[in-house]
Amino acid sequence: MEEVRKRAEEFRSFLNYHNYRYYVLDSPEVSDSEYDRLFRELKNLEQKYPELITPDSPTQRVGAPPVKEFGVVRHRLPLLSLGNAFSHEELLAWRKRVAGILKGEEFDLVCELKMDGVAVALIYEGGLLTKGATRGDGWEGEDVTQNLRTVRSIPLSVKDGSSFEVRGEVFLPREGFKKLNEERKREGLPGFANPRNAAAGSLRQLDPGVTAHRPLDIYTYALGWTEGEAPPDHFSALALLESWGFKVNPYNILCSSIEEVEEFHQHWKEERKNLPYETDGIVVKVNRFDFQNILGSTGHEPRWSIAYKFPSEEAVTRLLDIGINVGRTGNLNPYAVLEPVSVGGVVIESAGLHNEDYIRAKNIKIGDMVAVHRAGEVIPEVIGPIVPERRGGEREFSMPQTCPVCRAKVVRLPGEAMHRCTNAACPARALERVKHFVSRGGMDIEGMGEKLCAHLLTEGLINDASDIYFLKKEDLLNLERMGEKSVQNLLSSVEESKGRPFSKVIFALGIPQVGEETAEILAHKFENMDELALATSEELSLIPTIGPKVAGEIVSFFHNGSNLKLIQKLKEAKVKLSQEEEESVSLPLEGKEFVFSGELSFPRKEAEEKVKARGGRVSSGLTSRTTYLVRGKSPGSKLRRARVEGITIIDEQEFLRLSG
Ligand code: IVH
Repeated sequence: MEEVRKRAEEFRSFLNYHNYRYYVLDSPEVSDSEYDRLFRELKNLEQKYPELITPDSPTQRVGAPPVKEFGVVRHRLPLLSLGNAFSHEELLAWRKRVAGILKGEEFDLVCELKMDGVAVALIYEGGLLTKGATRGDGWEGEDVTQNLRTVRSIPLSVKDGSSFEVRGEVFLPREGFKKLNEERKREGLPGFANPRNAAAGSLRQLDPGVTAHRPLDIYTYALGWTEGEAPPDHFSALALLESWGFKVNPYNILCSSIEEVEEFHQHWKEERKNLPYETDGIVVKVNRFDFQNILGSTGHEPRWSIAYKFPSEEAVTRLLDIGINVGRTGNLNPYAVLEPVSVGGVVIESAGLHNEDYIRAKNIKIGDMVAVHRAGEVIPEVIGPIVPERRGGEREFSMPQTCPVCRAKVVRLPGEAMHRCTNAACPARALERVKHFVSRGGMDIEGMGEKLCAHLLTEGLINDASDIYFLKKEDLLNLERMGEKSVQNLLSSVEESKGRPFSKVIFALGIPQVGEETAEILAHKFENMDELALATSEELSLIPTIGPKVAGEIVSFFHNGSNLKLIQKLKEAKVKLSQEEEESVSLPLEGKEFVFSGELSFPRKEAEEKVKARGGRVSSGLTSRTTYLVRGKSPGSKLRRARVEGITIIDEQEFLRLSG
């Protein structure tokens, strides 16, 4: 037994160390597959000997059950907020106030990036993370311990076995925000307005399993209370946190003059757009703790610190109208039609407005002058109206009672924010459904762009996605701008898509609330589509991560006659509607696209056949899907482009290794 205990301990410290390398230092030393292998071994070991599980085992980050509501945590020391400075003058005024209270003593300042996320406090007792809470009103926050445990850059234990509180900002990097919103859109859910809201929403999930799938990160920025010996100043405290394994922003600096502070601000004002996360200013802090104590605080704000904000990239323009898009699930998505305006060098002419309540809450009227910006530096967003600019001709917006596309009745279900078109056959919905079906995450049918989908529907060549599999060459040749070659290519991509994995087919169906991840879980749980179609709500709810709402959507999808007809037609077309056999037929190059440039030492045709035989694709030009560029002798411009676009370039030998 002692042997096994030691082995488990070795696994844990190996995994904790490599987790730290990956998530805190951003500098992994082992491959993901090596990590996963050892993770599985530890998990097996712990399953056999549950008494060996420790609270800081890497297997214990996820798996806590959902809660009904969060408990309340009273902070031992309040989590204050910060005063703001918006100009150099305001910064100087703050410095002068501080210098006055410190009676001419010299003082250093620490400059940090002000992260735009959610403030949290982490409590460690005897070196173990025991509690994590949101800031709340500063005195009392919510107990989100189980959710914070899923944030991989938060250590579950620290070597120094003392008790202390660490504070920091949990945030969602831009990339994660973008992916999350794309995923939500595919699932027919409203997107988050900006990364901060997305981080807050993710942290306040009642089911930690959901939080675990959001790539949240943290920068710690303060040592709260400590039962050990406190360092003499803030900069040393940050170094101490770093040495304990916490993630501390590497750009923090210690300044001895206000000019250096100004320089730091100027630098990041420009450079912040290149950071992978959002920051809305810098935070300046008096370094020495004894000075901080002398300075104290005024109500909610410490006198020893100030947020020096970046000017936000905003513009003011006219809201010409509010348009409506009808989504795949029938949701009516209102959007602002704006007089084109440049924000940070990019022209914005429309912005999503989410739903009617959102428009009401923001007091937005058609004809208003509105302030706009780009949330997460990407997504256009209306901040709000400039009310004093109103001239009386502005109009209140209300959702139409009938669908703007098919004129069917529009309803808003109790408890929901969205209005929906009630016509399952609405052409707008049909188009969105077909687009979703052929999309990359779904059946991935190359050559089926939005225009072609729309064209096929309006020409009556297809009525739903399954009709794609019955398209005839003659019909396609009759379409505008479809030559022999493109028709041939399209038909072969349609054919190829019949072999997509079961999970992709489930996703492609476009069941509301069923994204790629849920589709994969379903594909694992059910042998085939017929079994899935017969599953009851109770059965589905038993699957972890599938709640009653998702279960309900799945059941009602399979109770709908036209959906069943569509599935029947897919069956007739021989689309794969069941799980892969064990020893899966999944081919080694599946999903990989090759482009060749230059001459190989054997015929190109042979190379192409090798790729296809192993499930890969060959394309004549570089596309966003290209995985590898194979470089032969005297390669052409494609090589240069591949370099610029960061596509993996391999030589003939490597190619032969991959293609067997
Ligand atoms: S120090 C009294 N440092 O900004 C000290 N706060 O507007 C207050 N924030 O609630 C916190 N980055 O959520 C500090 N480097 C940083 C920060 C930071 C972001 C947030 C924090 C705070 C808010 C105050």
